[in-house]
Amino acid sequence: MERILSQVREVLDDGTDKEQVMKKICELLHEEVDHYDWVGFYLVEDGELVLGPYVGEPTEHTNIDFGEGICGQAVESEETFLVDDVSEEDNYLACSLKVKSEIVVPIFRDDEIVGEIDIDSHEKEAFDKEDEELLGKISEEIGPML
Ligand code: SME
Repeated sequence: MERILSQVREVLDDGTDKEQVMKKICELLHEEVDHYDWVGFYLVEDGELVLGPYVGEPTEHTNIDFGEGICGQAVESEETFLVDDVSEEDNYLACSLKVKSEIVVPIFRDDEIVGEIDIDSHEKEAFDKEDEELLGKISEEIGPML
C-alpha cells in the first residue's frame, strides 16, 4: 500500500492539471491492483455527480443524482459505501454485467464533499478494509486540489 501511495504522491507533486492528475491516478490504480477493473472519479457539479476521468469500459452513467445508485447514496451520506455483491442492491446503477462488487469513497475539500472515487471489480467481495484505507488516504491527498 505504501508503494502505491508514494506513487500517488509523485503524481500529485508533479501535476498541476487536475484532470490529468485524476487520470494518472486512475491508470496507476487500475494497473497496480488486480481486482480494480474500473476506476473513476465522479465530481459534484451543480448538485449532481458528473463523471470525471476514468479507466475501464465506457459507462452510460455520466450524470448521477444524489441518492441514486451506490455513487449517489455515498455522496448523500458522505461515507464510504462498500458493496460485496451488487446483485443484492436494489438501488444500484449497472454499468456492466461483469461487475460484481463496488467501493465508493467520498472526497472532501475543506469539509465539503467535492467528489468520489468509484471502483468496480469483476470479483464478488473484492474490497476490504485495506482498500478502504488506501482509497481514503488517496482521497485525502487529492481533495485539496479538486
Ligand atoms: N454502479 C454505480 C454507477 C457508476 S458505475 O459503477 C461506473 C452506482 O450504482 O452508482
